[in-house]
Amino acid sequence: MNPLGIILSGGPETVTSNTAQKVNLGLLNSGIPILGVCYGMQTSAKELGGKVSTSDIREFGHASISLSNKSVLFDGVDLNEDMLDVWMSHGDKVTTLPKDFEIIASSSNCTIAGFQNINQNIYGLQFHPEVTHTNQGEKILSNFIFKICGCSKNWSTSDIVESMVSNVKSQVKDEKVLLGLSGGVDSSVVAMLLHKAINKNLICIFVDHGLLRLGEVEEVMSTFEALNIDIRLVDASELFLSNLFGIIDPEKKRKIIGNTFIDVFESEAKKIQDIKWLAQGTIYPDVIESSSDNHNSSVIKSHHNVGGLPDRMNLKLLEPIRELFKDEVKKIGAALNTPSHILSRHPFPGPGLGIRIMGDINETRIGILQKADKIFIDELKKHNLYDSLSQAFVVYLPVKSVGVVGDERRYEDVLALRAVETVDFMTATWAHLPYEFIGKVSNRIVNELSSISRVVYDCTGKPPATIEWE
Ligand code: XMP
Repeated sequence: MNPLGIILSGGPETVTSNTAQKVNLGLLNSGIPILGVCYGMQTSAKELGGKVSTSDIREFGHASISLSNKSVLFDGVDLNEDMLDVWMSHGDKVTTLPKDFEIIASSSNCTIAGFQNINQNIYGLQFHPEVTHTNQGEKILSNFIFKICGCSKNWSTSDIVESMVSNVKSQVKDEKVLLGLSGGVDSSVVAMLLHKAINKNLICIFVDHGLLRLGEVEEVMSTFEALNIDIRLVDASELFLSNLFGIIDPEKKRKIIGNTFIDVFESEAKKIQDIKWLAQGTIYPDVIESSSDNHNSSVIKSHHNVGGLPDRMNLKLLEPIRELFKDEVKKIGAALNTPSHILSRHPFPGPGLGIRIMGDINETRIGILQKADKIFIDELKKHNLYDSLSQAFVVYLPVKSVGVVGDERRYEDVLALRAVETVDFMTATWAHLPYEFIGKVSNRIVNELSSISRVVYDCTGKPPATIEWE
């Protein structure tokens, strides 16, 4: 492969176990620039004769590091009172340096938070430069890529858009393409790209499963109609609701919603003549997740909403953003003039409000949740908090609790507010929203919705909780 450099990433395992994956010593001795991050640093240290120990307490969150022994990795990095704010997430740490290595960064909990051996071209960081919580992490990675590995930039967003458009054109020619459009970032960017490439030969289907947010159907339809994109609405909410009647198990809900979606989409597609392609907004993390060896990881939630659809429909599969990460999808989307309210939307799960109503799903509960969710989101936007969060929503808890309003007793259900900050959605921290703000939202909800007696705030991170409640 003749790489200019190698980055060894972090991972969930511990290098202290006998079955841990190791970096090959030959690679470390090859002279190719290597940057080990977290697990990547620890395995490099261990193979080179250093020591790694497990501490009882995992360090997770912000940490301040100080720098020592000049390193190119930190060239041009601005310090705040001689310290740099970084993101840590680890149980193990390097406790003894390999021979001829020097410390380049330390925190109060972790003396060897960064090391280097300039002659061997090996660098290690215990913290995560790749997450946005690490101030100037991008600068640190750029230093490795450009200054240490000597790579050069040879692409730009506009070049990529042009080449994607011409790839789609030469793949699809004058055949018709069908796209399931949800109004989320990925499928919307695919719609914009295909519209630019093949115009009227793109046909989009938007399935309303009755579990969408308040006003969402109108918003998505009007956005894409205004862009002259052929989008067809299928209102299947009654079918979804009757299939979900009496179902309380979260996995069953997901399977029913996924299967009903496939049935509805397939029968709508059959009504359209001459479709040859099915486009999907698969992005690179989906590819990694579905191809990684899952033999020792348990299924936490069944996620894939439309799995199995292409096989059943016998159509050719078109996945134009398959090689992109989410932030790249957003950049391409912006270059394609995707409306900003679409690009800045928080993710919304395929099963929608179905997995935000604990227990039985019915129209009354959906109606209450939609209104409460709108109050929460509107207030977040009004207070300029929406864009600083990765995801925020309301959850319906069918638990009766007593309240008092005026002189009246209230005995109604509970709602929970959930707001998280995350980079990759694999881990997340609960957002420390201002108390006054939470109080205001809670007040509005109990005042405006007489069937709710109490509002609570979810202060659990992921892990141990997941972001959605089901
Ligand atoms: P969890 O709840 O697993 O969620 O921490 C991580 C992210 O994935 C979203 N999510 C889903 N998205 N179909 C989706 O398209 C699903 O079935 C699904 N379940 C969870 C969730 O909203 C969060 O952004």
